[in-house]
Amino acid sequence: MKKLFPGVFVKGNKIYTISLAPGYSVYGERLETAGEKEYREWDPFRSKLGAAMAKGLRHFPIRPGDRVLYLGAAQGTTASHVSDLVGRNGVVFCVEFAPRAFEKLLPVCESRENMIPLLADAGDPSKYSETVGLVDSVFQDVAQPNQADILVRNCALLRKDGLAAIAIKSRSVDVTEAPAKVFDKELATIRKAGLEQLEVVRLEPFEKDHALAVFRKPV
Ligand SMILES: C[S@@+](CC[C@H](N)C(=O)[O-])C[C@H]1O[C@@H](n2cnc3c(N)ncnc32)[C@H](O)[C@@H]1O
Repeated sequence: MKKLFPGVFVKGNKIYTISLAPGYSVYGERLETAGEKEYREWDPFRSKLGAAMAKGLRHFPIRPGDRVLYLGAAQGTTASHVSDLVGRNGVVFCVEFAPRAFEKLLPVCESRENMIPLLADAGDPSKYSETVGLVDSVFQDVAQPNQADILVRNCALLRKDGLAAIAIKSRSVDVTEAPAKVFDKELATIRKAGLEQLEVVRLEPFEKDHALAVFRKPV
């Protein structure tokens, strides 16, 4: 295994994290043992952050030890890899508002001490700001028409110099507009709020009409 980013590894064209809950496959991903460690394969067809890495992402938004605010955790597929890579010194606050997805998220959080499930609307961070406090990174994948605004609101909880990443689904914003135009508009909204745009990656062929963008909160 070679290091791709701190806490993220590659072998051939496959991406892995080291499992914090050995023996537990969260979404049917392959587990591979090497020495004392168990590696979990990160499927780019099931995870937009995985897809962004497979498409050559350069600014990885999350580091070992980070406190992460994860918006749109669903059943914990990507959030579980984020949990692996931040490790035992980090924490992942997993915000999800759909009760059925949340129910499936709970056992994943129970298997990992650093994943905190929060049943809440990411559009209203005041509901969890006290629990979460300041974070080192925000990751958002909510597929909502106002996804840029939701990110901006949550970046009130992001520390200065911290990183924010957003998976933008153009069809959730406007099904009739060309995806590139939708991305431009959403990215402009986030830049206007004072965040510095570092990188944008289109996610095809893993996800149609999606892009992942990384921002930094200025010091
Ligand atoms: C595309 S799925 C997320 C997949 C997940 N990030 C992964 O890779 O494993 C989007 C999720 O965002 C949730 N969601 C959408 N709007 C939300 C909101 N305002 N607050 C919290 N969760 C939201 C949906 O219920 C859904 O589970």
